[in-house]
Amino acid sequence: MKDIVSTGRTPWTASSWQQRHAVQQPEYTDRSELKNVLERVASMPPLVTPWEVRRLESLLAEAAAGKRFLLQGGDCAELFSECQPDIIANRIKVLLQMSLVLIYGLHMPVVRVGRFAGQYAKPRSSDFETRGSMTLPSYRGDIVNGVEFTKTSRKPDPKRLLRAYHHAAATLNHVRALGEGGFADLHHPEYWDLGFVHQDALRTEYQGVVDAILEAIRFTEAVSSERMSEMERVSFFTSHEALLLPFEEALTRPDSHSDDVFNLGTHFPWIGMRTSNMESAHVEFLRGLANPIAVKVGPGMETSELKSLVRHLNPDARPGRLTLIARLGQAQIGSQLPDMIRAVSATGVPVLWSCDPMHGNTETLSNGTKTRRFETMLTELEESLDIHHAEKSVLGGVHLELTGENVTECTGGARGLQDQDLERAYQSQVDPRLNSEQALEMAFALIRKVRSL
Ligand code: PEP
Ligand code: CO
Repeated sequence: MKDIVSTGRTPWTASSWQQRHAVQQPEYTDRSELKNVLERVASMPPLVTPWEVRRLESLLAEAAAGKRFLLQGGDCAELFSECQPDIIANRIKVLLQMSLVLIYGLHMPVVRVGRFAGQYAKPRSSDFETRGSMTLPSYRGDIVNGVEFTKTSRKPDPKRLLRAYHHAAATLNHVRALGEGGFADLHHPEYWDLGFVHQDALRTEYQGVVDAILEAIRFTEAVSSERMSEMERVSFFTSHEALLLPFEEALTRPDSHSDDVFNLGTHFPWIGMRTSNMESAHVEFLRGLANPIAVKVGPGMETSELKSLVRHLNPDARPGRLTLIARLGQAQIGSQLPDMIRAVSATGVPVLWSCDPMHGNTETLSNGTKTRRFETMLTELEESLDIHHAEKSVLGGVHLELTGENVTECTGGARGLQDQDLERAYQSQVDPRLNSEQALEMAFALIRKVRSL
């Protein structure tokens, strides 16, 4: 059978994960409705194509080799209600602006990957949430249930799987249209106005980057008498945590031109920290996919486990195949990352190291608000750069939760948001995100650090 892939020693199929216990899955009461919906999803067209996925892998291989930088970012959890043109365009805009700063400051191309068009499933630390005298299933993302704290809304609803597919398709369609319509054209960064960024210093610094890039483009085009590559213009890839395995399986398809099997619901699926152990159903599912994949590496991961995982997920040592997204926290990175880098390097398996400075630095204020401090996140990112530099390794990417909206969810940054400012525009239902001003500041701070190394 075509869709059986021999990966490592044991055979794999898109459903072999079902032999394992899958954690972080909702309890659906109506199994026959679930089955019908999944069949419907499985009959729908794919969202992405194998050739796009293969191209992304080659770009990630370049990032691992220090020749390109991965910028991966977007919401913690996408909401169906936020599948709106302005919200999508603003998120694209901030990612484009950041990528411009990175291209300019790092002197290398950037591969842009959104946490969007499918980032609808969330792992939770508890299956239930209690408010007053009422206990209900936790919110697990729009693909599973509703955020509203009522019995009906919190009940896992299989019909949401199909809605997730449609919302992902609509989002991706808009992202592609913006790219093709010239919105994302490097020749026209003036389309990407700075929105609510009012800090004069940040505006001036950004304008300097735009002017320098436009001048470089004009110079290159004048010398070569050609327009710069079309490919560089668009390239937005999608990614999400491949958490809800029945849904991921329904979008997994054999390639008609090879023996490969692709998850065509996204270009770049990742395994979250809570599901990344060697025996997990999630590791089993992702190991057989032909997509490039990523794993979130948290402070609880032993170096011996990390080595096994790296060999298991990239048995052919394919460059670009595996990205490790370290999310250790500022307090732990110094004591853990060096050993992890050495352990992975000892396997001889190539990986792309990325830094998620957000998930290890979440704090809960006394009033229950979850936040993250800009300065703590930046320190983790800077330490990551220092450590990779000292280990003669490459930090080839960054992974951020951000939005193009004017939210107040993370404190700090040049505007100096304080704890008491958070309630002004706190919108996230899950983790706190950088607003576009903070995101742009993070990009500038990153290039400053790289230049100082
Ligand atoms: C996330 O990326 O939103 C997330 C839950 O991350 P992690 O798996 O690193 O905790
Ligand atoms: Co998150």
